Amino acid sequence: AVSNPLRPLLLAAGRSSGLKRAVTALPVTRSMVRRYVPGEAQDAVVSATREILASGRAISIDHLGEDTSDPAQAEATVQAYLDLLADFGRLEVPAGLPVPALEVSLKLSALGQFLPQDGHDIALANARRICAAAEAVGAWVNVDAEDHTTTDSTLAIVRELRVDHPTLATVLQAYLRRTEDDCRALSGPGSRIRLCKGAYAEPADVAFQRGEEVDASYQRCLEVLFAGEGYPMVASHDPAMIDTAHALAERTGKGKDGYEFQMLYGIRDDEQRRLAADGHTVRVYTPYGDEWYGYFMRRLAERPANLLFFARSLVGR
Ligand code: FDA
Repeated sequence: AVSNPLRPLLLAAGRSSGLKRAVTALPVTRSMVRRYVPGEAQDAVVSATREILASGRAISIDHLGEDTSDPAQAEATVQAYLDLLADFGRLEVPAGLPVPALEVSLKLSALGQFLPQDGHDIALANARRICAAAEAVGAWVNVDAEDHTTTDSTLAIVRELRVDHPTLATVLQAYLRRTEDDCRALSGPGSRIRLCKGAYAEPADVAFQRGEEVDASYQRCLEVLFAGEGYPMVASHDPAMIDTAHALAERTGKGKDGYEFQMLYGIRDDEQRRLAADGHTVRVYTPYGDEWYGYFMRRLAERPANLLFFARSLVGR
């Protein structure tokens, strides 16, 4: 939760390149990373996808990487998505799964959003190539939310891409004070909004700091999305948020095909399966690739129990 006292430290560590080298070199890190990231190679995520689909869950695949300052790296990321999407044809989607069961999630900062010249336009053009390739294989695309300095640029890119790719989804973060208004603005017909709590270290003038405030904001935002005409995507492992979604679905009459639950790969797997067995659409956000450090540190920051486990593994207990 946001009020975890170690959270700011771990999130800062997640941005340090010196620590990155030290932490990624530890053998124990790799075995723990495997809980959250099925592998570094495309083949690994394709096998994980097969298993997830066979278990009755949908998937959103993220090629790990963020904050690129190198145009060649941004191009390599686009190519990784194009290669992955080309592989989607090899995947058999079991009957009965929601359509489309396959989605990719993108981070615009990995596509060049922060390149010194024309970063915004480069990210837009790169995302457009991925949207076109996804559309050709019948997959959905989602644009992830990053830190609050990117929100305006990200939402502007999403708005522009949705003109040609109207199923494009994006993420709103309940910890941001602006998000309830953004939910209102973005809950029209055809919208697809993934609501999460938010995973970055943000200052108090833009973001709620206490866990209870974030939870209350999440619940207000869910109310707006469920009352709207779009397709809410409830991205949380929190039983209280999941209960709120059930209650809102009942109150607003949204059927099980009118919204979905989303959780991260490796987290609350039993609950994911239980919801899917109950007839809900459950989408598993599944990252792959070798740039897992920032993602891994955000997962450690969320849950002190994970950190304790990591610390124990380090000292061999
Ligand atoms: P939180 O971490 O507050 O935990 C609340 C409760 O959930 C816990 O008390 C416990 O009961 C349960 N729980 C949580 N983790 C558990 C675990 N490991 N095992 C058992 N129980 C657990 N963020 C962002 O900034 N931009 C983005 O684009 C995305 N995208 C995204 C996609 C999807 C599908 C998800 C699920 C999440 C994201 N996030 C994200 C991350 C998100 O912002 C947030 O950091 C995490 O989901 C953690 O918040 P929770 O809502 O899960 O609850």
